[in-house]
Amino acid sequence: MVKICCIGAGYVGGPTMAVIALNCPAIEVAVVDISVSRISAWNGDQLPIYEPGLDEVVKQCRGKNLFFSTNVEKHVSEADIIFVSVNTPTKTRGLGAGKAADLTYWESAARMIADVSKSNKIVVEKSTVPVKTAEAIERILTHNSKGIDYQILSNPEFLAEGTAIQDLFNPDRVLIGGRETPEGLKATQALRDVYAHWVPQDRIITTNLWSAELSKLAANAFLAQRISSVNAMSALCEATGADVSQVSHAVGKDSRIGPKFLNASVGFGGSCFQKDILNLVYICECNGLPEVANYWKQVIKVNDYQKNRFVNRVVSSMFNTVSGKKIAILGFAFKKDTGDTRETPAIDVCKGLLGDKARLSIYDPQVTEDQIQRDLTMNKFDWDHPIHLQPMSPTAVKQVSVAWDAYAAAKDAHAVCILTEWDEFKTLDYRRIFDNMQKPAFVFDGRNVVNAEMLRETGFIVYSIGKPLDPWLKNMPAVA
Ligand code: NAI
Repeated sequence: MVKICCIGAGYVGGPTMAVIALNCPAIEVAVVDISVSRISAWNGDQLPIYEPGLDEVVKQCRGKNLFFSTNVEKHVSEADIIFVSVNTPTKTRGLGAGKAADLTYWESAARMIADVSKSNKIVVEKSTVPVKTAEAIERILTHNSKGIDYQILSNPEFLAEGTAIQDLFNPDRVLIGGRETPEGLKATQALRDVYAHWVPQDRIITTNLWSAELSKLAANAFLAQRISSVNAMSALCEATGADVSQVSHAVGKDSRIGPKFLNASVGFGGSCFQKDILNLVYICECNGLPEVANYWKQVIKVNDYQKNRFVNRVVSSMFNTVSGKKIAILGFAFKKDTGDTRETPAIDVCKGLLGDKARLSIYDPQVTEDQIQRDLTMNKFDWDHPIHLQPMSPTAVKQVSVAWDAYAAAKDAHAVCILTEWDEFKTLDYRRIFDNMQKPAFVFDGRNVVNAEMLRETGFIVYSIGKPLDPWLKNMPAVA
């Protein structure tokens, strides 16, 4: 029986391995992690991450051919194929701080593999890593090899949170990069055979190692760039009276451009886009390509601009001060259908409003109060370290409370800010919300989910990203 072990039971490791286990009953899959709380959650009723469809998949194979364990060394030593899906944070200190990937967790995983292995291994990079990481990993493994053959493959993950299970069952492509030696080709084929249980052959692409590593960074950079492009347009739409939804629709009809990823919003978030672009920028700089680095840097700058612009719209519309005013924040996760808050634009928007002394009442259907408080007090990039290594018991932000539903959040508020596109925000009883708010009552829709005209008829002053401005907002500066 082929044995797979995945190091890192996170948003990628957990769902990916569950889908492999379900599709390959003859393969034994063990997912291991140094975080005891994460592993107990994977073995319990309340999984550590929320992802539609994940519960069903895990429950079908857990205890049969899918196991979650903290016994990292045992499972690594027994496995034929080892996926490494640990976090690859942005460095906060030293060389490349604020940009380069911190490979501490990766390196310690590689050293542990070298220590405990007694048989040949295929080591698969599942984490997103800088180009040429495989070379470094190869060095660590071969310098400690005890005669064991290690083949390194790059198999970056393209799943999107919120649709991870769907994406894993039906991927646009599976990418496998490997050495073009007989042993490398054999390892590539072994991994191809795993995916071939459910992925059509023509969707399994094989490349050299460096192309596979770079393709993941490139794909995230292209996706984020589309969002920054449409967000940049949204600012121009507001200045000119154009409607960004109409512009996106017209632009997306061009088959060379396509309609996806063209929704204007308060900005992109998530654990990957910013981190991977910073990493790409750093790699370009290290390779003597400052022009290319600056080109990609701009994608992040526009994203930061969009979040600032949103905060400034809120403050300037409300008589240039939100001091002491209650503002309801609807949605804190970085997108709908996930409880993940890593790099969510809500953090920067909330911090911006708190900087102007607002009182915030936050509601998100999937994010806990503890997580929100943690996010609002944590230093930049600290989130991307294993939970048990993150700073403990931060002092709570007093001006922030968490509500059980949107109505409670909005009660007596001066304004509502919609920061995540949860479906339930489309169908709220906005009349009821309006009646219980201070007047004038504002809605700032950072995801374009509400019908602005209907809300205006109810009496709200409404700001929607990239849409013709409410008469109230005209002549008020969007950016300080
Ligand atoms: P995560 O933070 O949810 O999970 C990583 C896990 O690795 C943590 O539970 C941590 O405790 C564990 N870990 C760290 N060092 C370890 C070690 N030495 N031994 C055992 N366990 C260890 O991270 P996530 O989101 O799963 O991401 C993992 C990688 O996949 C990152 O490189 C990320 O950029 C990439 N990625 C993430 C995607 C996403 O949507 N979250 C999508 C595609 C790629």
